[in-house]
Amino acid sequence: FRVDDHELEFARVPAVEGNDGVVISNLLKETGLVTLDSGFMNTASCESKITYIDGDEGILRYRGYPIEQLAAQSSFLEVAYLLIHGDLPSSEELSQFTERVERHTHLHDNFKNLIGAFPTDAHPMAVLSSAVSALPGYYPESVDPFDSHAVELATVLLLAKLPTIAAYAFRQSRGQEMIGPDPSLGYVPDFLRMSFSTNGEPYEVDDALVQALNLLLILHADHEQNCSTSTVRIVGSAHANLYASVSAGIGALSGPLHGGANEAVLAMLSEIQASDDDVDTYMDRVKNKEKGVRLMGFGHRVYKNYDPRAAIVKKVADKVLARLGQSDELLDIAKRLEEIALSDDYFIQRKLYPNVDFYTGLIYKAMGFPTNMFTPLFAVGRAPGWVAQWREMMEDPTTKIGRPRQVYTGSPSRDYLGI
Ligand code: MLT
Repeated sequence: FRVDDHELEFARVPAVEGNDGVVISNLLKETGLVTLDSGFMNTASCESKITYIDGDEGILRYRGYPIEQLAAQSSFLEVAYLLIHGDLPSSEELSQFTERVERHTHLHDNFKNLIGAFPTDAHPMAVLSSAVSALPGYYPESVDPFDSHAVELATVLLLAKLPTIAAYAFRQSRGQEMIGPDPSLGYVPDFLRMSFSTNGEPYEVDDALVQALNLLLILHADHEQNCSTSTVRIVGSAHANLYASVSAGIGALSGPLHGGANEAVLAMLSEIQASDDDVDTYMDRVKNKEKGVRLMGFGHRVYKNYDPRAAIVKKVADKVLARLGQSDELLDIAKRLEEIALSDDYFIQRKLYPNVDFYTGLIYKAMGFPTNMFTPLFAVGRAPGWVAQWREMMEDPTTKIGRPRQVYTGSPSRDYLGI
């Protein structure tokens, strides 16, 4: 049969003239041989040059560079530049970019009122998405998605202001006064200072924590077409500005199945710690599929192997806890869970390897962040990926407005008889 100009032939499929999607998809449904996406070209599926993942081999690369190498040697802003601009910056480009971002970390004072208007028990992700939605109102010169200078400015402003917004949201959730940025400290150290400084007192930045947070932000910087990133792209495909698109991405990330997963891991570890069962018993309960007993932080839609990010995060967890002199029983529980999962046929056959969410919560907790800050930290890390993906899509002249395909399954026709 014919679809547009292409003649397709399938054994056992009778010839049909025309390109009527309904007829064809019914036909294909009957034969069960193949499905046809009648909405192809506007389903929001895409090609991308940004992040490569091989889920079988457990490989993750940004613009071709192995994530392990970037995590070990780069700064978060260097990786942001790489993701967004496609190449690693020269040292001069990096210092200009870093200086530009750090110069813009200040927020208009009205943001203190905006964020201060939220109840202290509001989730910081709600604060984050609202404040990002408000940014274009204050920087109208950065809004036009088709003006390259405006897009570059919006890129810098978003990267610059997100940590400040996240720190303000954190302070608001604790009923503390918001502390403005000190760009001279550097991106990650200043974020820690804005988050943890006790009012009025100097904050001693711990290099080990700075390194750990820098690395975690890099590991979260992009992950190709995950839920939030594809949201950012689809919103941008309607020519919504970068802020509106990223704000929508923050909403997607707030879901427990996406950015909220490490909160769920911590809850599971705490539950095991509080119960009379040991870890082995808990895993038996998982295997027996007991109601409400779930293994969080294992398995991934793409990785059928160890999530390359999890291996790095595990080492960081050890370092941070040692540095802070904390012996965390939860970390021991996590390691035992992993040990069992990697040696037990039940988990091996199901390819249930630890994913990136498994150890991150433990590190954030050791640093002093409460669980409701885990997702905002993920958002600060993911910002370069969202921006890079949005820009790649906007620069592609073949991009069409996203319109997911629907298969109608409702009543064919009903008569309205009134009430
Ligand atoms: C991510 O980093 O975005 C998560 O692993 C989720 C995903 O890839 O779908």
